[in-house]
Amino acid sequence: MSVVEKFIQQLVVFDIFVMLSVNCVVVFSSRVGDENVKCLHTEKEALLTFKRELLDVDGRLSSWGNEGFSQDCCSWRGVSCDNQTGNVIGLDLRGPSGPNASVAIAPLTGKISPALQELKQLKYLDISYNRISGGIPDFFASLSKLEYLNLSCVGDEFTTIPINLGNLSSLNTLDLSYNGFLSVNNLEWILHLRQLRYLAIGYVNNLNNSVYTWLFNLSNLTHLDLSGNALYGSFPDAFWNMKSLQHLDLSRNALGGGFPRCLGSSSNLKLFRLSANNLDGQLPEIMRNLSCVSGSLEYLNLEENHIGGSLTDNVANFASLRELRLGRNKLNEYFPGVVGKLPSLVILDLSWNRIEGSVPDLSLLSSLRELYLSHNQLTGLTESFGRLSKLEKLYLDFNQLEGTISAAHLFNLSQLRELDLSYNAQLHIRVSSDWIPPFQLDLIRFAHCKLGPEFPNWLLNQKNISELDFSASGILGDVPSWFWDQLPRVSFLNLSYNDIAGNIPDLSNKMSDLLCIDLATNKFSGPVPQIPTGVVTIDLSSNMFSGTISFICDNFDYLGYLDLSDNRLSGELPQCWTLRTIVHLNLGNNNFFGKIPNSIGSLQTMGMLHLQNNHLSGELPRSLANCKKLRVIDVGSNNLSGKIPAWIGNNISDIIIIILRSNRFSGSIPSSICQLTKLQILDLSDNKISGTIPKCINNLAAMTEEESIMQQIKSWYFQVNDEGDVTINASYDETAVLTWKGRQFEYSSILGMVKSIDLSSNNLVGEIPIEITSLVGLHGLNLSRNNLTGNIPLRIGQMRALNFLDLNRNDLTGEIPAGLSQLSHLGVLNLSYNNLSGRIPLGEQLLTFDNRSYIGNDGLCGRPLTEACSLEELPQDPSLIDEDEFITEEFYISMGISFLSAFLVVSALILNKRWTYGPLRYLEVNNVTSHSAILSS
Ligand SMILES: *[C@@H]1O[C@H](CO)[C@@H](O)[C@H](O)[C@H]1NC(C)=O
Ligand SMILES: *[C@@H]1O[C@H](CO)[C@@H](O)[C@H](O)[C@H]1NC(C)=O
Ligand SMILES: *[C@@H]1O[C@H](CO)[C@@H](O)[C@H](O)[C@H]1NC(C)=O
Ligand SMILES: *[C@@H]1O[C@H](CO)[C@@H](O)[C@H](O)[C@H]1NC(C)=O
Ligand SMILES: *[C@@H]1O[C@H](CO)[C@@H](O)[C@H](O)[C@H]1NC(C)=O
Ligand SMILES: *[C@@H]1O[C@H](CO)[C@@H](O)[C@H](O)[C@H]1NC(C)=O
Repeated sequence: MSVVEKFIQQLVVFDIFVMLSVNCVVVFSSRVGDENVKCLHTEKEALLTFKRELLDVDGRLSSWGNEGFSQDCCSWRGVSCDNQTGNVIGLDLRGPSGPNASVAIAPLTGKISPALQELKQLKYLDISYNRISGGIPDFFASLSKLEYLNLSCVGDEFTTIPINLGNLSSLNTLDLSYNGFLSVNNLEWILHLRQLRYLAIGYVNNLNNSVYTWLFNLSNLTHLDLSGNALYGSFPDAFWNMKSLQHLDLSRNALGGGFPRCLGSSSNLKLFRLSANNLDGQLPEIMRNLSCVSGSLEYLNLEENHIGGSLTDNVANFASLRELRLGRNKLNEYFPGVVGKLPSLVILDLSWNRIEGSVPDLSLLSSLRELYLSHNQLTGLTESFGRLSKLEKLYLDFNQLEGTISAAHLFNLSQLRELDLSYNAQLHIRVSSDWIPPFQLDLIRFAHCKLGPEFPNWLLNQKNISELDFSASGILGDVPSWFWDQLPRVSFLNLSYNDIAGNIPDLSNKMSDLLCIDLATNKFSGPVPQIPTGVVTIDLSSNMFSGTISFICDNFDYLGYLDLSDNRLSGELPQCWTLRTIVHLNLGNNNFFGKIPNSIGSLQTMGMLHLQNNHLSGELPRSLANCKKLRVIDVGSNNLSGKIPAWIGNNISDIIIIILRSNRFSGSIPSSICQLTKLQILDLSDNKISGTIPKCINNLAAMTEEESIMQQIKSWYFQVNDEGDVTINASYDETAVLTWKGRQFEYSSILGMVKSIDLSSNNLVGEIPIEITSLVGLHGLNLSRNNLTGNIPLRIGQMRALNFLDLNRNDLTGEIPAGLSQLSHLGVLNLSYNNLSGRIPLGEQLLTFDNRSYIGNDGLCGRPLTEACSLEELPQDPSLIDEDEFITEEFYISMGISFLSAFLVVSALILNKRWTYGPLRYLEVNNVTSHSAILSS
């Protein structure tokens, strides 16, 4: 066939196709219900043009026009056609969103082609959660049949709404939410949308507070979502006139004041969300003002406001209410004895309030399945909750409950799946050892309750537990051997801070879903057990585990946090390091010996390395220079030797803490250390370091920042979806949220950190470089027990943050600089055993030190020493000392304690901080420059 013939044939085919499509209305209308709808050629071409303008990294549109797929565009992914005319009527191109969004799937990016206008019958268009450049084109207004339009989260270039969207007279549903750059300053056009029932404009950049009132004209709306928009002023009562409204979401705004009374009774409101606003007023009054919707309301969320008062009987009118969320308010009064009847109520959340007294009698809430009373000040417990026989979730954690929970309380709770009584330090849980619980729990937390001393044998009957937290619950003695076989589904296991003893068997096949195991601070002994390799957090610290740690050679896929410190582990560190995802590794306070293997340098994700208090010898392996993410290295109290490696400064630029204390390091301090602009703690004390203190020390930028004593911990958390996929995320927020199987855990990650230099007990010579006085952020400086000579730098008075200064046992000469008296935070001062002379400067702060700060200096005189000064040694200028400084917290920290211990407290806080929920202890220290933001937040 020649090229021309081919061309002619194609033309013919094309003609036939066009003819067919012209006739298809007739053809198909005579064949009602034909399942083999064929799309129209023009519309198919339009779709292909539309596709060409988009970048589709993950091939979401791969069925569109490609070989091996149907050429009928009606069968392409996301396309739906009218089953009679073959017209494309729906385009569902929704991108990845929400908690189920897999990070692996990319959104479509690019422009929307004008070819879309060809789809004249389009009724349904969803392009949400893609990244559309150029914003929303004006020609959308010509899609006149459109009924559903979802433009939620379509990218940063969607900044204004094309006003002629008002031409879409058939539009029923419009979603413009989550467009963080969209400004809505005009809504007049929306009044033309006479069919509009569902409108969502949540979380846009700016929904003009003066124009949203136009929406009150839309009296036919059934759904209205204006959440996350900083709307202010009082709650407009015009909402009550929108009689068709079924869903009203005004959460995360700034609506304040009281709550207007709604009038009439014909309301259809089912869902009403006003959480996270500034509402105040008293709950009984609010419920009274809501009475016009009492017949219809099913879901009411007033969380995170400033509502006071208490849940009283007047809620009883809300016969349809299924979910009532009042958490994070100021509900403060005692509960009334009995909470009225809400026959349909399934979920009641009163957590994070100030409710005192006893857990009220809720027994009239006969449908209740979830009850959240966490974080209140409840003290007593009535038996009445035991009558809530449909209860599935009961959260009473973080109260002050006293007394005893017995089997009688729990007798009827046969549906219970989640039970959290944690952090009620005076609550006893007393059941007989042969008790058989009526329920099968999925989650059980009795942390910081009085559960022990006996091991809870009733666990023997619990087969479904996925989360168990019995930390600090007073359990003593051996763990029964059946226990380890009893939790085949457990993901979170926390038995820390008890006195539980015994050996642990190989867990790798017994707990195959394990994500977090925290057995810290107990009396477990024997070898470290094999642990399933899918685990994320292992904390076995402060036990009596012995033997080697060859299990490290198992192929852990997600292990981020491994703490084996404070045990009796021994042997050489293994050569194989397969901890591909490790962030925090703590092997400190054990009996490891031999060299630190070179292979440790393969742990490239490592942020914290703790090997302190072992018997390790040899040099620091050169390969550690590859661990570029190291932030903390602590190898103190070993037998390490060699020079302080220059690569620390050259290669690991972001390091924050270096502790090489109490080893046998020698040579001089490499000047490369001065490159560590984030360094906050440098401890080289008690080694054999010689030479001088490098003058470049003033380059340690973090120590030159006076104000910044705050650090933000970059928190690591992981998400596990219901399919069991784990995603590890890093968060820079102060507060990170962990979602795990729909539950959320929140914790704060800000921590103050100390800055210090300790070079004591070495062989340093020469003068103290005056450059050191530029480190005005330093809290501690210890240069004692060296051979330093010369004067104390005159400008030491500018190191205002200093609260620990120890220069004792050197050969310093000259006078004590007057500026020292300006160090108003100074809590510890030791200048003894030098050759200092002259008058001890006057100053209130200096008067708090006794003569031990100065003895061993033959030439010193004046208070507090008994040697009086001769007349020519005149007193200091008093104006220098007359500053109205207030006493800060650091001052108290340093009072009476040596700085070293203050530092240890702080570092212990960082490194051993026990998050309530284990896996969150997945940390990396990250220094943050915007300290003022942190302080003010
Ligand atoms: C065709 O579509 C109409 C309306 O969308 C629907 O009611 C009907 O069931 C469909 N017929 C077939 C065979 O799918
Ligand atoms: C729009 O799409 C998003 C997801 O992409 C969805 O969450 C939202 O509910 C949709 N809006 C409507 C009104 O259906
Ligand atoms: C929208 O409607 C106006 C008249 O109401 C008309 O002038 C304009 O052309 C229409 N726009 C589009 C894109 O259809
Ligand atoms: C809100 O709209 C009004 C009038 O429509 C306008 O004057 C005002 O500038 C707008 N405010 C903002 C913040 O855009
Ligand atoms: C719409 O509402 C605004 C403000 O509430 C009002 O001024 C205007 O008259 C109303 N317009 C129509 C057409 O109802
Ligand atoms: C358990 O239910 C039975 C029958 O409804 C009731 O008599 C009993 O008082 C309930 N027990 C508790 C502790 O509420």
